[in-house]
Amino acid sequence: MKKELEQLRDEFLSAVKDVADAAGLEDLRVEYLGRKGKLAGIMKQLPSLAEDLRKDMGSFANEVKAAIETAFTEAHDSLHEIDRESRREVEWLDITMPGTQPKTGHLHLVTQAIEEVNNIFARLGFVLVRHPEVEWDLYAFESLNMPKDHPARDEWETFFIADGEKQMVGENGKVVLTPHTSNGQVREMEKGNMPIRMININKCYRRQSDVSHAPMFHQFEGLMIDKNVTIAELKGTIDFFAKNFFGADREIRLRPFHFRFTEPSFEIDITCDVCKGTGGDESAVCRLCKDGWLELGGAGMVHPNVLKAGNLDPDEYTGFAFGWGVERTMMMKAGLNIADIRTLYRNDLRFLRQF
Ligand code: PHE
Repeated sequence: MKKELEQLRDEFLSAVKDVADAAGLEDLRVEYLGRKGKLAGIMKQLPSLAEDLRKDMGSFANEVKAAIETAFTEAHDSLHEIDRESRREVEWLDITMPGTQPKTGHLHLVTQAIEEVNNIFARLGFVLVRHPEVEWDLYAFESLNMPKDHPARDEWETFFIADGEKQMVGENGKVVLTPHTSNGQVREMEKGNMPIRMININKCYRRQSDVSHAPMFHQFEGLMIDKNVTIAELKGTIDFFAKNFFGADREIRLRPFHFRFTEPSFEIDITCDVCKGTGGDESAVCRLCKDGWLELGGAGMVHPNVLKAGNLDPDEYTGFAFGWGVERTMMMKAGLNIADIRTLYRNDLRFLRQF
């Protein structure tokens, strides 16, 4: 038995030298040390030996086993090392190499404009709010001094919401897509927190589509209501906005106009950036504005009927409102020459990436 054990040990020690990889080594381990392996086979003879011989053989068998195990562990470690080294070759990484720039997006240019508008009015204490896009007739028209069937409504080419084939109607009238952010005026008054300094920026919808109209667009609506608010505050606020948004050299003017929900009403004009408000010279009129002024949008002093609709006493409170298109205002800013407003919403990355 001793001979067999010695032979087994020597056999293993020479076989282990030829092993090339981890799988081969594992095979060898099972063959020699496994439960049904060669060593176990020889050990089966132990019980049949005489008592003192059995002790000697037992401890010799253990020595052999230990020798085999040591050789196995050494082979295992060195294979592992070889493996690591070859992986180091393949997976070598130069951490000083410049990286690949991950593709990062940026905010849509309309979103950028919204943030800029909001930041300017925030400095005057106007609080950003958002009122519904899907709106009742009451807030979009009726409470804004535009009774049912009033022809003034025609200007707001309105989308109506149908439930199946039938126009959707509720307690506050027909359901529409709000055609302007003025729907936020009475909603804001109804909150009952006075005074009001609101800037309502939201999507609006009108049934129009051409180079200067998109059926979905944005407006920002300013509303200030307090005791003794006058046209002077309206003019000062808009002048502050115009100088901060367009540039310190721009001037504004108020031109009389008519809206049902403001009295008096104005269109706000701003001096043209191309001719600097001159309208051109003797040789030619300005190709952009023709008379030195560009139209920004509507504004006015809140009509007493609108204040009443918002549960405010017109003898106690006065206020002003203005509501302008975000896209229009943004495109008027120098340098933005966008031929078709709808390009903003075609989601063509070649266009959007430029901003
Ligand atoms: N809501 C008007 C529009 O969409 C603009 C406006 C707002 C006018 C507030 C006066 C006061 O044209």
